[in-house]
Amino acid sequence: MADVAVSVRDEAGGPLHALAARFYTDAEVYRQEIERIFYRTWQYAGHVSALAKPGDYVAFELLGQRLFSIRDREGQVRTFYNVCQHRAHGLVEGSGNRPFITCPYHAWSYGLDGKLRAAPASEKTPGFDKDAICLTEVRTEVFAGFIFVNLDDDAAPMAEWFPGAEAELRAFVPHIDELAPASWVSVNEACNWKVTVENYSECYHCKINHPTFASGVIEPETYNVAPKGYCLRHTTRSANLDRMTYPVDLDANEHAGDYSSWFLWPAFSFQVYPGNVLNTYLWRPDDVANTTVWRGWFSAGGSDDDVLTRLAQQDLETTVAEDIRLVESVQQGLASRGYRPGPLVIDPEQGLNSEHSIAALYAWYREAMQGG
Ligand code: FES
Ligand SMILES: [Fe+2]
Repeated sequence: MADVAVSVRDEAGGPLHALAARFYTDAEVYRQEIERIFYRTWQYAGHVSALAKPGDYVAFELLGQRLFSIRDREGQVRTFYNVCQHRAHGLVEGSGNRPFITCPYHAWSYGLDGKLRAAPASEKTPGFDKDAICLTEVRTEVFAGFIFVNLDDDAAPMAEWFPGAEAELRAFVPHIDELAPASWVSVNEACNWKVTVENYSECYHCKINHPTFASGVIEPETYNVAPKGYCLRHTTRSANLDRMTYPVDLDANEHAGDYSSWFLWPAFSFQVYPGNVLNTYLWRPDDVANTTVWRGWFSAGGSDDDVLTRLAQQDLETTVAEDIRLVESVQQGLASRGYRPGPLVIDPEQGLNSEHSIAALYAWYREAMQGG
């Protein structure tokens, strides 16, 4: 899987400009994005801690498609469309454990491998071929304990989309296999998903909009966002660790004092705060002008953790609240008759005050949308 060329110039050789407003406001563009981007990229589905034993399952929805993940008898996590192959009833709701998947409508029963095991009275049906019937499976990968699915059967594996990212993340969070979600905080943002993802992906706005972040966690002069495969890698030296609101044992491991983030195109990010504190961003579009942002916080076994609770609260009151104002104003501006998209600010040496990362998002966007 070759890297997509990221150009910081437009076709005439001038500076690359922001996307036209209609890409953020047109319902038909949005419909195509769901098909061409969200159904063909790796999407967060859940955490393995919810699927400890064979038969454990979790149902979820992904942009209008009902799915469920389940641990099979061999211990593998599999995902299927949550639809019976008889006459389309849903199979499971919520979460739980099942030895088989039995449809509530006419009791067709499937194994954990998706194969039809029994269909009441079907033996009388001429030509009924039970062995030919199987639930429709979806590509599934477990990435450092996080379950991702891809509705495109031909998609390249995550290791090709995000080269080196899992090993790096594991180095920054050495205890990642012990972690489980401690809390999921959702925030509705009245903006197109790309507005909030772009906002996340550049720090040109950080100094004036995120005083706590810019003075309390990162060393702004060292902040950079660089594409690697389809990952936007945020790196920085962290600063003022003595002023952190929780104690950090800098000798605990190599990355104990570091802040870092891995944005996985198109709508998920792993973040690590000093002290190897793992948290995530998940963006789920609701419609062309609304997005739900889920902030996930992870602790050993998902236990209550004071530091995490305080961090999640502080995050809501600072970075999240500060960003909502920005992205919602942008969405309103995109509907303005007076908006003419401006040039991106690009520093060839990258760094904090550069929007080269937005150019990468545009390149991936164009590739996906032109890809048929
Ligand atoms: S729809 Fe599932 S058994 Fe009929
Ligand atoms: Fe921000």
